[in-house]
Amino acid sequence: MEKTLTTEKANSDRYVQLENVDMTFSTKKGDFNALKNINLSIREGEFVSIIGHSGCGKSTVLNLIAGLTQPTEGLLFCAGREIAGPGPQRAVVFQNHSLLPWLTCYENVYLAVERVFCTSAEKKEPKTQLKTRTDAALELVGLTHATDKRPNEISGGMKQRVGIARALAMEPKVLLLDEPFGALDALTRANLQDELMKIMAK
Ligand SMILES: Nc1ncnc2c1ncn2[C@@H]1O[C@H](COP(=O)(O)OP(=O)(O)OP(=O)(O)O)[C@@H](O)[C@H]1O
Ligand SMILES: [Mg+2]
Repeated sequence: MEKTLTTEKANSDRYVQLENVDMTFSTKKGDFNALKNINLSIREGEFVSIIGHSGCGKSTVLNLIAGLTQPTEGLLFCAGREIAGPGPQRAVVFQNHSLLPWLTCYENVYLAVERVFCTSAEKKEPKTQLKTRTDAALELVGLTHATDKRPNEISGGMKQRVGIARALAMEPKVLLLDEPFGALDALTRANLQDELMKIMAK
């Protein structure tokens, strides 16, 4: 059964909350304990960076918040509800772009927009509105000129920007970024970091 936090705890002070989270992976060599007793509270509007050496468990934490994996022990909440799986309110941008290669930049973003805003008979935005959302997200990351190109026709930085456009177009409450610029050269990375800060401010 889905657990809910008490109203006092569910306030905006603790929009995302991890309580005594443990993560143990079963491997061929036995159990591997990646996270032990992690507690974290994130307020609405807060920008949090998780820093640590390679293999310390950063991606593991993000995957848990994204709902892609379940903790071995402990609880995770978002907006007062237990995180039971992936959901459109928590969007992820991965280190490697994860775009569908047979779709154009536009179609990659549109697919996500359709999944979020046109899901059922009750929640069915008209196609023009879905198009407006897709165009706006691509414009935000400066890719209006590349909408009809496929991932193999654009640069690494542009692919990452499509990934960010796709995540933002879903209007998530939480944006999870797992080193999305890690594979880029220093100059492109610095530019995209600046762009991201401007998008966040918007
Ligand atoms: N599915 C898995 N099965 C077994 N072990 C795993 C699995 N996923 C992660 N691990 C282990 O858990 C630890 C944490 O991994 P994680 O990917 O979270 O590290 P990270 O901090 O994101 O590292 P990096 O900076 O290199 O991305 C590592 O030792 C890794 O080998
Ligand atoms: Mg990682």
